[in-house]
Amino acid sequence: MNPKNLFTKKGSVILILLLLCLIGIQFIRPRLNNPPVTADLDAPPEVKQIIERACYDCHSNKSKLAWFDQPAPAYWLVRNHILEGRQALNFSEWDKLSKDQQKGILYESVNQALFKEMPLKQYLLLHPGSEITDKDIAILKNYLDTLAPPKVKPDTSATIRNNASIVTNVRPSLNGIPYNAEYRNWEAISSTERFDNGTLRVILGNEIAVKAIKEQHINPWPDGAQFAKVAWAGTIDPEGNVHTGDFKQVEFMIKDSHKYASTEGWGFARWRGMQLQPYGKTALFTTECTNCHKPMRDNDFVFTEPLRLATK
Ligand code: HEC
Ligand code: HEC
Repeated sequence: MNPKNLFTKKGSVILILLLLCLIGIQFIRPRLNNPPVTADLDAPPEVKQIIERACYDCHSNKSKLAWFDQPAPAYWLVRNHILEGRQALNFSEWDKLSKDQQKGILYESVNQALFKEMPLKQYLLLHPGSEITDKDIAILKNYLDTLAPPKVKPDTSATIRNNASIVTNVRPSLNGIPYNAEYRNWEAISSTERFDNGTLRVILGNEIAVKAIKEQHINPWPDGAQFAKVAWAGTIDPEGNVHTGDFKQVEFMIKDSHKYASTEGWGFARWRGMQLQPYGKTALFTTECTNCHKPMRDNDFVFTEPLRLATK
């Protein structure tokens, strides 16, 4: 609208109609409750303070709306963020998560903050006080370090070297990816310290992957980035130390957005057992991989949170 027109008859009619609309939509106000807090996040005060300030508006049952969040249509948007946010993560229902899940979601939270995914950008524009600073990140990470379970140090080199020296002629995987024993020299980016089903896993990244982590270019990962995930049977001795047992399998993800476009931009491959048998019956074994990795689509299909390395 040309501002001059505002003063014409037609202009004022339009303005009045707009105003009436704005007033009208204020009556469309779906409810937004703050349900009772069943169990609040359990963390030291300096940690909790950060999360309360930056995350509680959307991830708790203690959402506080600012005056500018009240009028529709802003209200509708904010309400949606809160409902979706609570569904993804609710610090007021902390007891609904197991200890491991709590730890996992805290790791994920710090990663989200580290990569500026959270708090949501639109929210930060209006709530600049909620920004997560580098100092906050440092405090959060220190806390995570205290949560870490005892370090698992599988003897990657020995086990895999033994294994590779026995098997000489490893067949390529059924989708044509050749076996690459080079991964033994890659850097461990996460010894998935969690271990269930009695297996113990280490995730290694090649040079391109490690560089991408350091430069925080990991979503999407650059072409050429590769991961290997190695699994052994795990055992715990009476002192609580974890040892690696028999080698179970090694699997790879190789990023090439063109070559592997049909499998989400990653070449998947897996070899099993001491004999390094290619996994699967046909080349379509990759459907299994992509299906299970799909929930991580917003993370370029990668599960591992390379938190520790990113902060070195
Ligand atoms: C303005 C609302 C808002 C704020 C503030 C906010 N979040 Fe979120 N958060 C969301 C919404 C909406 C989702 C679900 C959709 C999505 O993943 O984008 C979400 C999802 C998440 C998830 C799950 C991500 C996933 O992949 O499922 C984590 C973890 C998270 N937020 C952490 C945080 C942390 C940590 C903070 C504070 C530093 C924070 N959020 C602040 C709205 C918010
Ligand atoms: C049942 C679900 C599931 C299936 C099926 C699956 N993965 Fe994974 N994958 C995971 C999870 C979960 C992780 C994260 C690390 C962990 O917890 O062990 C992971 C991690 C990986 C990693 C390390 C990089 C990352 O994303 O963290 C590679 C490499 C990998 N998987 C390859 C494969 C290949 C190859 C296949 C198919 C042959 C496959 N995966 C099938 C669940 C699955």
